[in-house]
Amino acid sequence: MNIYEDKVIDESRQGEVLEINTPARMGEGKKMFLESYGCAMNFSDSEIVASILVGKGYSTTTDFHEADLILLNTCAIRDNAELRVRNRLKEYNIAKRKNPKLMIGVLGCMAERLKSKLLEEEKIVDIVVGPDAYRDLPNLIESVEGGQKAVNVLLSLEETYADISPVRLGSNGVTAFISITRGCDNMCSFCVVPFTRGRERSRDPESIVNEAKILFEQGYREVTLLGQNVDSYLWAAGKAKKELNDIERQNAFSFANLLEEVAKISPDLRVRFSTSNPQDMTDDVLHMIAKYENICDYIHLPVQSGNTDMLTRMNRGYSREKYLERIAAIQRIIPDAGISTDIITGFCGETEQEYTDTLSLMSEVKFDFAYMFAYSERPGTMAEKKYKDDVPADVKLKRLQEVIVLQQKHSAERTKQGVGKVHRVLVEGVSKKSDERLYGRNSKNTVVVFPRQNFKKGDYVNVLAKECTLATLIGEAV
Ligand code: 5AD
Ligand code: SF4
Repeated sequence: MNIYEDKVIDESRQGEVLEINTPARMGEGKKMFLESYGCAMNFSDSEIVASILVGKGYSTTTDFHEADLILLNTCAIRDNAELRVRNRLKEYNIAKRKNPKLMIGVLGCMAERLKSKLLEEEKIVDIVVGPDAYRDLPNLIESVEGGQKAVNVLLSLEETYADISPVRLGSNGVTAFISITRGCDNMCSFCVVPFTRGRERSRDPESIVNEAKILFEQGYREVTLLGQNVDSYLWAAGKAKKELNDIERQNAFSFANLLEEVAKISPDLRVRFSTSNPQDMTDDVLHMIAKYENICDYIHLPVQSGNTDMLTRMNRGYSREKYLERIAAIQRIIPDAGISTDIITGFCGETEQEYTDTLSLMSEVKFDFAYMFAYSERPGTMAEKKYKDDVPADVKLKRLQEVIVLQQKHSAERTKQGVGKVHRVLVEGVSKKSDERLYGRNSKNTVVVFPRQNFKKGDYVNVLAKECTLATLIGEAV
């Protein structure tokens, strides 16, 4: 759809981030505590933030009580995501009273949405930084040390942090995220992301492939390529997508090309990606997944609703039929692929019939997994301006509950289909429930648990599934 309405973006917020001109050891001996909320992109961004500040002498800590700097990388996608952050800030209030020098920064989408208002509303916050301004963090910290509160919420048209090697936080040493695009040019009417993460831009493929190679050399065995809409990834020597003519666009380096280059690093490096978009996902991408054993047979394809009128109000750029056609293409080209989705209940004007259409679409596809949400109106979005948030809260929640119950049934059915089959599992660690068992995932992203024996993290193990729970296969190595 890519219909970016310039008027809804405040152009004054866009621009280059500032140069870093602080001394390298400004944070010598100081500790930062980094906490991430929301999507995988935020977790990935926190690793970039850690890298920037480690370069300035900071070290990381997992105990906020011993931190000199607490950074919360926040999410604004639904109201309750913001509420969680505000509640967490209350907890940090106590820590700040004990240590008045403690610096608190709010990063990410909530910072971008609320800007300096956040400083007024949450008195303990010292720094507010948007997703494109992390290089400026050392300068902002210096300002706070000099006694001033600091804000940088500039959005950029170019920033991809391509040259920054992330510091892997809380890593299992086997799986890692690599971001490939930033921002989003889709204008789904319910979504705040285009406003908080700015315009879509793709990262130089060379830096992506290099990052994946380094991870593989360090022992990592799976990378997940991240973007709000990975299918719109396009690289043409730095030229913005909209500047390209038709021929340049055809010759540009696409997401399918990128998948191939990363897959070629080693057959032992698994490649995953998220999120796909029904209006942009091409057969080229599907054929590339089918061609390489190590590109996982799993696609996260958010549908949001099963009703075409609703999808039009959501500005999703596809119909129910088109979505089902994309599902049929996946099933044709990658038989037995794992498919998951996102669903919203109670979006503006959702009638009983429209809601029932979502249930029927779910039954038609039988997703392996779904993330399900009640609609939460976000200030500034197209939906907030154009439509009434008129489905009563209890109806939204009742529908959500029914959708969850139906999905659980489908998940159980889909998991059961894996019983009696052998799965190639990449071991990610020891099972939470028993030290004697390991867990990992198969190509379809289903969790598989099996006896430990002499296997270890990072091994590929063929496991015969003998039984299952709702979402986990249980088996033995063969
Ligand atoms: N209310 C509820 N869910 C939302 N999502 C995005 N915006 C909203 C909102 N305002 C969901 C969509 C999206 C996922 C990341 O979050 O399903 O795919
Ligand atoms: Fe972009 Fe996804 Fe939000 Fe749509 S739902 S605007 S594709 S981030």
